[in-house]
Amino acid sequence: MTRSLLKTHPYRPQMAVVRDIIQETPSIRTFRLVWKDPSVASQFSFQPGQVGQISVFGVGESTFVINSPPTRREYLQFSVMRTGEVTRALHQLNVGDTVGVRAPLGNSFPYTTMKGRDILFIGGGIGMAPLRTLLLTMLDNRADFGDITVIYGARSPEDLCYRYEFDEWRAAGVHLVLTVDREFPGWSERVGFVPTILAEEAPNPFNRVAITCGPPIMIKFVLAGLKELGYEDDQIYTTLERRMKCGIGLCGRCNIGSTYVCVDGPVFSGKALRAMPPEL
Ligand SMILES: Cc1cc2nc3c(=O)[nH]c(=O)nc-3n(C[C@H](O)[C@H](O)[C@H](O)COP(=O)(O)OP(=O)(O)OC[C@H]3O[C@@H](n4cnc5c(N)ncnc54)[C@H](O)[C@@H]3O)c2cc1C
Ligand code: FES
Repeated sequence: MTRSLLKTHPYRPQMAVVRDIIQETPSIRTFRLVWKDPSVASQFSFQPGQVGQISVFGVGESTFVINSPPTRREYLQFSVMRTGEVTRALHQLNVGDTVGVRAPLGNSFPYTTMKGRDILFIGGGIGMAPLRTLLLTMLDNRADFGDITVIYGARSPEDLCYRYEFDEWRAAGVHLVLTVDREFPGWSERVGFVPTILAEEAPNPFNRVAITCGPPIMIKFVLAGLKELGYEDDQIYTTLERRMKCGIGLCGRCNIGSTYVCVDGPVFSGKALRAMPPEL
């Protein structure tokens, strides 16, 4: 699907078939989708950070970030945490089932302005999903970036997504710092909340961009921690989750003041966040 197709028929989803399902954690499943229509498959393009509206027929539609990178086109990947109606219905799907997808929606990470810089990803739980898209895009263009550090935390080892890829990330030169909230038998990596680990690691802000996504409370303390370390607002990016309906700036469901998360976001710089009303 191209932007122009979405402009002409903004509410019409394209059909996609579930190719693979991965059980990431007890409550999160990853879906790898392939377009039914070969012309959509050949035209579809997106940028890291953009989202899709996935519909389960007869149930409804919800927003999920595309977490496969645009550099790997064999499928489109979404990770879904079971929270309510639509996500429960998605978790009941089997390989071979069909869903509707409206994508790509929203803005994206400023990928080109990040070239030549050191990169710091800070993720919590399912917040690793949008970061994974950007991380894998960078790993597929590794020479364009300096040091890449990933600080990723979850409540417990079994709540970490993409565990099967950690070796691949490390082999590509990523400094991967994993943490869980408390001690677990057999866990040999870090223990502590993500903002604490950030303060301990203290990555130097010189020529570095920080990208964070996770639960709101984590983001709040991570932003404060980055400030303490000397990061300026324009060195920081995050993605915001706001309940969406239309996804195209028409229904007024997702706004924060005059900002529409569906079209002005979901990616925001620290500077843009600071300019928003304090209702976050
Ligand atoms: C830009 C964006 C990207 C997202 N990416 C992902 C993703 O990659 N993976 C993923 O699992 N989820 C993602 N979400 C959240 C996802 O859209 C919601 O969890 C989903 O819509 C819930 O649908 P549901 O019908 O299952 O739940 P509902 O039945 O609608 O709600 C279940 C419960 O969750 C609460 N809830 C639902 N949506 C939200 C929300 N956005 N913020 C706060 N509370 C909410 C409801 O108030 C209710 O308590 C994203 C949301 C946005 C806006
Ligand atoms: S979701 Fe409708 S305006 Fe943003």
